[in-house]
Amino acid sequence: MLSFEENVSLKPYNTFGIEAQTKYFYKVEDPTQLQYIFSQNKELPFRIFGGGSNVLLTQNFEGLSLLIANKGIELLDESPTGVTLDVQAGENWHDFVLWCLDQNYGGVENLSLIPGSVGAAPIQNIGAYGVELSSVFKSCKALNVDTLKEETLTKTQCEFEYRSSIFKTHQKGKYIITSVCFELQKSPHQTKVEYGALKALFENSSPSIQEIAAAVIAIRESKLPNPKILGNCGSFFKNPVISELHFRTLKSQYPELPSYPAPKGLVKIPAGWMIDKLGFKGSQSGDAAVHDKQALVLVNSGNASGKDILALAQKIEAAVKKAFDISLETEVNIL
Ligand code: EPU
Repeated sequence: MLSFEENVSLKPYNTFGIEAQTKYFYKVEDPTQLQYIFSQNKELPFRIFGGGSNVLLTQNFEGLSLLIANKGIELLDESPTGVTLDVQAGENWHDFVLWCLDQNYGGVENLSLIPGSVGAAPIQNIGAYGVELSSVFKSCKALNVDTLKEETLTKTQCEFEYRSSIFKTHQKGKYIITSVCFELQKSPHQTKVEYGALKALFENSSPSIQEIAAAVIAIRESKLPNPKILGNCGSFFKNPVISELHFRTLKSQYPELPSYPAPKGLVKIPAGWMIDKLGFKGSQSGDAAVHDKQALVLVNSGNASGKDILALAQKIEAAVKKAFDISLETEVNIL
């Protein structure tokens, strides 16, 4: 018989550090317990927490919050060139990256220091410095909450896109990821250093994966606030993708507008640049603020509520719409 904790504060479980209560709470260290939990509590609404690094809590929750906390890394297969690993969903993402660097397994070094858990990584297909999770992802195991059966979902089935997958779109709420299977490289590593800041650092050199990770960590630490010190969820908005025509119109108005090519002839532009251009960087609205070194990051500078952060986000969305005719989409999940 499992017993849930009652009336628990979720403040320690979200990196925005926002106060909100959950009626019931349970830390899942053994994912086989999930079947039992759901079969016994069919009518109870539930929410899943991993590292809590991509949620904005705007109200208390009358249901069951489940913290996915199963740990372990298993070597499934090894060849002269690579390894296949099965990693439990509750492992901390950055600890996993550090472990890979120690073993000299390549593929995740550009994704160093991303907050959150391994199980949450596929949901938004985490990405940074020219690499996305999808490039090392083989499959994941997930509990289907409708059938209460465990399923293995392949990379194709997950339909990864920029900051998106089936877990955020048409299958949202249907699966709980319990472990992720990765394919990583043994030496020689196929490193990626084409992304702006890394390219400038490593022009004409062949850095090791450890050197790339150290550079990514230094860049992130210089721009992105440490959630342990200043509550935040990384990028609050996705970088929007617009038509070539729309881009050309904007570029004629703002010749310095940065851009990146996106699939299907579209153009991705940095939301952080637009928010910065509109003068929001470093601005404060009560305890909700725009980070002073990266305008894409909203921060809780004290005791902001989820509603305070949301109000600031909506003000930014309206200003971006008015100035650039672009509707920003949040990367963060608003609950
Ligand atoms: N920029 C500004 N002002 C700002 C912020 C950015 O002018 O305040 C400009 C920069 O100068 C640069 C461009 O915008 O020309 C892009 O900035 P940056 O390289 O910092 O990256 P980003 O597009 O703002 C994305 C990811 C980050 C990831 C970095 C590096 C999204 C939504 N965000 O940010 O991911 O770390 O690239 O790859 O795609 C996250 O998802 O939480 C996250 C932090």
